[in-house]
Amino acid sequence: MFTISKTDVAKFSTELISEYQQLLEEKHFIYLETKDANFDWQEFTKLVTGEDFMLQYGKPIFHVKYEPELLNFSDARGKKRLLPHTEATDYPNPPKYLALWCKKPADCGGGLTTLAYVEGFVNTLTEAEKKKLMETQHYFGATIGVHASRTQGATHTILSYDGNKPTLRFSCNYITHGDYSPNPDNLIPFTPDPFLAEISDRLLKYFEENRLAILMEQYSLLLWDNRSMLHSRTTYNDPTRLLERIFLG
Ligand SMILES: [Fe+2]
Repeated sequence: MFTISKTDVAKFSTELISEYQQLLEEKHFIYLETKDANFDWQEFTKLVTGEDFMLQYGKPIFHVKYEPELLNFSDARGKKRLLPHTEATDYPNPPKYLALWCKKPADCGGGLTTLAYVEGFVNTLTEAEKKKLMETQHYFGATIGVHASRTQGATHTILSYDGNKPTLRFSCNYITHGDYSPNPDNLIPFTPDPFLAEISDRLLKYFEENRLAILMEQYSLLLWDNRSMLHSRTTYNDPTRLLERIFLG
């Protein structure tokens, strides 16, 4: 956890940005508590990542809040827990970074954002499994559920490397249920690829045992590398919780 003072914020000096760039490179995420409603988190994330916003559902900013029709789904706008994933596996080029700005945390103390570096999980795979995940092309694009046909879908390998850094494109919900945001209590019948379903089960177990859990405080920023970090969220019960989300890259 890091804090930033109002004087630092006003400057956004080259030194300050380069300090956070180094931190992002080393830790793959930054959690910053500002206690400042006017902190220019959008400019800050652009400077630190060197990337511009990508649209999500046609807009630069997505509001993460309860939507009555999604409440019972494992979805950003529902209350059920999410399963680990990297964002936007059905985009031809998923965002390099994701950022969340907390405008209002959940009063119940739930809704923790959880993160795990993919390298730890990749190290548990056999060489044959890694090879298969690096060489097989998979189609990602929901044909069932609330996000059916939200994009035209994308075909890509699950594991790749950016230099020495392993990167994943993965969604436990999509792999096991064919649906990015299923209702866990009313699943639509789906037969997953047996190899990927087993990888997904192991990934879920690894994630539960190794994840960081961050309870974002009001006016805090969480920025992470979407390709080398898996993320998820615990359940919560407060319709006033409000986060803003951006895609960069
Ligand atoms: Fe997500």
